[in-house]
Amino acid sequence: MRHGALVYLGAFFALALSWTGFVLTPQMQVGQMVATNTVPAGARYPVARPGLAQQGLQVYRANGCAYCHSQQVWQQGTVFDVMLTDGGTNQPGVVAALQAVMPRLSRPEALQLLEGLPKPVLRGVSREEAESAVKKLTTSGAKATLWIEAVGPDLARGWGKRRSVPEDFLYDYPVLLGAQRVGPDLADVGVRQPDVGWHLRHLYAPASVVTGSVMPGYPYLFEKRRVVGAGSADALALSGDHAPEVGYEVVPKPEAKALAAYLVSLRADAPLFTAPFSVGASGGPAAPATNAAPTAGGGVP
Ligand code: HEC
Repeated sequence: MRHGALVYLGAFFALALSWTGFVLTPQMQVGQMVATNTVPAGARYPVARPGLAQQGLQVYRANGCAYCHSQQVWQQGTVFDVMLTDGGTNQPGVVAALQAVMPRLSRPEALQLLEGLPKPVLRGVSREEAESAVKKLTTSGAKATLWIEAVGPDLARGWGKRRSVPEDFLYDYPVLLGAQRVGPDLADVGVRQPDVGWHLRHLYAPASVVTGSVMPGYPYLFEKRRVVGAGSADALALSGDHAPEVGYEVVPKPEAKALAAYLVSLRADAPLFTAPFSVGASGGPAAPATNAAPTAGGGVP
């Protein structure tokens, strides 16, 4: 063989290159990942799922839920809101500062804004704009804070408050990201729907809780049996067409209970250094993020 060395080298580099791409690079990117802290609360994140929920992950896997459901929320970017929290004592100065920040604001409107704080002054602006507004307002004697809001189509659908990050899956094996979205993304479904009873009814007969649902039911995760005595405390509260005949009840098997526990454990509601947002930024009472670093990875993932 005249080109033996060349063939050998060719094969060697082809294999070395794919090993670098598929093994070494991912290992360098996420192989050393450890738990992190939420910002600004400083709580440990993530926390391992309860045992029942870990079993539920295997039920989720075995039933192919990932064929129709993803668990990865995408984020387009980060915008900033300016919240006025305190009007201070220098009213004319604050009104002037408000008018400098919001050029179209009239004096009476500015005075009205100063009542019933905290109120948003600017919404959805860039970091620079927001910071300069906060500076103007604080110089005038008022108190204003910067609020961070993650935005994107997935987030607008209510699928989460921030993008998914590798830490979200730290204690999961296997990671079931899913690639198709016949149904909604489930990365944050435990926050949207924390009721285990709802999930059980939905799994038994999706159309019993979501009118016109095209999700298949999983009745084999349940047992339909004759009511004995007072009946089971676990029996599903089904009504209408989906209710069992009189004298019968539908009780979840251990797999169904584990799966429901897993579904309510799916929450991506912790603000992190790499994916910050101010808790409650889209309304509601909240603590502003004081030491978050929105520049670090707040952009397109
Ligand atoms: C054939 C595709 C398909 C499969 C397989 C599937 N689903 Fe669904 N799922 C849907 C669709 C479509 C919806 C939206 C309608 C609804 O809520 O019922 C949905 C909705 C859901 C919801 C409610 C989400 C929300 O935001 O309200 C949950 C929870 C859910 N599915 C869990 C599961 C689990 C767990 C499995 C596996 C046991 C599964 N799905 C399998 C298609 C599917």
